[in-house]
Amino acid sequence: MNVRFEMETRPKTGIVVGAGSRGNGYPWYAKEYPDQLQIIGVCEPRDFQRNRTVKAFDIAEKNAFKDWKDAADLERFADCVIICTPDRLHKEPAIAFAKKGYHILLEKPMAVTEADCREIVATCKENNVILSVCHVLRYIPWVKKVKEIIDSGAIGDVVNINHTEPVGFWHFAHSFVRGNWHKESGSSFSLLAKCCHDVDLICYWMSGRKCERVSSFGHLSHFHSGDKPKDAADRCLDCPAHVETTCPYSAKKLYLGFVKTGHIGWPVSVICDTPDIENVTQALRDGPTAMILLTDTAIVSVKYRSYCRRKLNHEHAPAHLFDPEDTGRMRGMASTQGIV
Ligand SMILES: NC(=O)c1ccc[n+]([C@@H]2O[C@H](COP(=O)([O-])OP(=O)(O)OC[C@H]3O[C@@H](n4cnc5c(N)ncnc54)[C@H](O)[C@@H]3O)[C@@H](O)[C@H]2O)c1
Repeated sequence: MNVRFEMETRPKTGIVVGAGSRGNGYPWYAKEYPDQLQIIGVCEPRDFQRNRTVKAFDIAEKNAFKDWKDAADLERFADCVIICTPDRLHKEPAIAFAKKGYHILLEKPMAVTEADCREIVATCKENNVILSVCHVLRYIPWVKKVKEIIDSGAIGDVVNINHTEPVGFWHFAHSFVRGNWHKESGSSFSLLAKCCHDVDLICYWMSGRKCERVSSFGHLSHFHSGDKPKDAADRCLDCPAHVETTCPYSAKKLYLGFVKTGHIGWPVSVICDTPDIENVTQALRDGPTAMILLTDTAIVSVKYRSYCRRKLNHEHAPAHLFDPEDTGRMRGMASTQGIV
C-alpha cells in the first residue's frame, strides 16, 4: 500500500495486541531503537504476559487492557498496533484499529479466509493506513540474496523453484501437534499456519509474475492413533520407561531436557510462565504438551503465467540441491541458464 508515516522525526508509538510469544518479541525493537519506536500500550487477557509487557516498557496502567476491544473503543492514542493475537483473532482487531486510523503490523497469517484478508486490505486502504504482514523470512540475508540474484538476471528466467519447509520434528510436535495449531478449527491448517511463509517467499522471488494455477494436497502421514506405540500412555509422564526413553517425541525428554541444560526460552517459555523443573513438569501433567501426537504433510504446486511459454527440458528438471547444508528450505532452482 502506498501510505507512509508522515515525515516526522519523533519516535512512533505502538500498542501490542496479544502479548504472547510473538507479542513479547517485536516490542523489544523499541528498546533497541527508542528514537524510532515507543511501546505505550498493551492488550492481553493473561495477567503474567500483560504485566511483563507493562513492566518492560513502563506502560501507564491506563493503557494496559485485558481485551483489544477496550483499546479500540477509545480515541486513537498511538501511531500503530502490533497485532499478535491467535490466527483466528486477526481480522477483527485489524479492522477495528484500522478504522481508528492506526497503522497495522499484523502477524501472519493475515486471516484464515480469503474474504477476511480482502476485507482487511480494503479497510486499511479506505482509512489510509499502512498494513504490513509479518512475513519475516523476507529479511533473512540468504533470502534477500536469492532475490537479488534472480532480479539481476544472472541466472536467466527462473522456471522452477523446488522449496521444502522441513519443520524440525520436535518443532512440528510442539507447535502443530501439541500446541496452538493442533486443530484447524481453533487456528489454521498447517499449510497456512507454517508454509504461508514459504508461499510468500516464492511470490517474493517471482515478484511481478502472475500465478496462473495452484494445486495442493495434504495428508496425515507420520503420526496417527494406529501408530501409537504399544504400551504408550496418554501422557508422556505416564509412559512406561521402555516406551518413553526410546521415543524421540517424549515431551519429558524434550521440555525437561531443555530446562536441565539451562534453556528456558522458546519453546519451554510458552508452556508455562516461569519455566523451571517444577512448573514444566506441572505443564506436562496438565497441559496439551505431553500428549500423543498427530501430524500431517502438505504439498503445493504453483504455476506462474510468464513461464508457460518457456521450454522445460531435461536440463531444467529435476533441480539439484541449492545449498543442502545451509537451511534445507531451498532444494533447487532451475532457470534458462541451467540449474543452481
Ligand atoms: N511471523 C512468524 O514467523 C510467526 C511465528 C509464530 C507465530 N506467528 C503468528 O503470531 C500469532 C501469535 O502467535 P503466538 O505464538 O505469539 O501465540 P500466543 O498464544 O503465544 O500469543 C497470542 C496472545 O494473544 C492473546 N489474546 C487472546 N485473545 C486476546 C484478546 N481478545 N485481546 C488481546 N490479546 C488476546 C493471548 O492471551 C496470547 O497471549 C499467530 O497468529 C501466529 O500464527 C508468526
